[in-house]
Amino acid sequence: MKEFIQKLPKAELHLHIEGSLEPELMFELAKRNNIKIPYKTIQDIKNAYNFTNLQSFLDIYYAGANVLITKQDFYDLTWNYILKCVENNIIHTEIFFDPQSHTQRGIEFKTVILGIVEALNDAKEKYGITSAIVMCFLRHLSQEEALKTFDEALAFKDYIIGVGLDSSEIGNPPSKFEQVFKKAKEQGFKLVAHAGEEADVSYIFEALDLLNIQRIDHGVQSIKSSFLMERLKKEQIPLTVCPNSNIELKVFENYSQHNIKELLDYGLNVSVNSDDPAYFKGYLNQNFINLWENLDLGKEDIIKLVKNSLNSSFISDDLKKEYI
Ligand code: ADE
Ligand code: ZN
Repeated sequence: MKEFIQKLPKAELHLHIEGSLEPELMFELAKRNNIKIPYKTIQDIKNAYNFTNLQSFLDIYYAGANVLITKQDFYDLTWNYILKCVENNIIHTEIFFDPQSHTQRGIEFKTVILGIVEALNDAKEKYGITSAIVMCFLRHLSQEEALKTFDEALAFKDYIIGVGLDSSEIGNPPSKFEQVFKKAKEQGFKLVAHAGEEADVSYIFEALDLLNIQRIDHGVQSIKSSFLMERLKKEQIPLTVCPNSNIELKVFENYSQHNIKELLDYGLNVSVNSDDPAYFKGYLNQNFINLWENLDLGKEDIIKLVKNSLNSSFISDDLKKEYI
């Protein structure tokens, strides 16, 4: 089965590029840029990755991103993830980035986006990997700040396919960002949002009805509303589920408690994704392997999950036909 998973050509729809920063590169960039990090060894960094919930992870994740300064740093970060795509047989990836976690530190928007774009262009040229970029707003910040970031992003509109919403979920509902999502829709951006990762189903309803999103990131709390489950099934709204992340952030106690198989069996459009693989013990294949080892997943289930992600991607219908 491991070989079967490895060999399947896959897509990834929920990957934070900052969450692919491996401890080795964090160390190298800290040295290169003369940035102090609170770790003496790579093992120290790995030991710190012991999370109790989403916020405990985010504190460490934002601190880690402080080592990213130059365009070359963002290139190296993205390129290292592309090498993992090659290893994992990921043929198409839609990556999130968090511009505000960099612009707030005085890094220019263009430094971030151009470093990422250059690496993705090289990935297409060298490995044929296709990609898209989704810009996420940090929901713990204000809508005003999101609007400012949105205006800044317009100069790079051609590089950004959509906007998303991430960071601390509880206490920062989608309704806080109605205006900026409305603007993004008017400008033709695709819309996604993290919803129902930790927070209740009202966040998912708001994301769908107030932000008009086309995909839900995580969404595993949907199971608590039969009304929502019916709607998600009927409308086939994609849920980009991240099993390793859910276990590491204690959304579920262990893999056998994970509800992805129930969501799939109910007829929802769920896919498997790695979220922040450098922090959550593994890339895409490892997520599939963990599910297969702990849930009653057959080959058909795995194929369905992979097809769902290709189908739910923002690639053109022509490319979809080629891939599926
Ligand atoms: N930013 C990076 N990973 C995240 C996650 N799993 N949830 C919310 N925000 C994030
Ligand atoms: Zn995420």
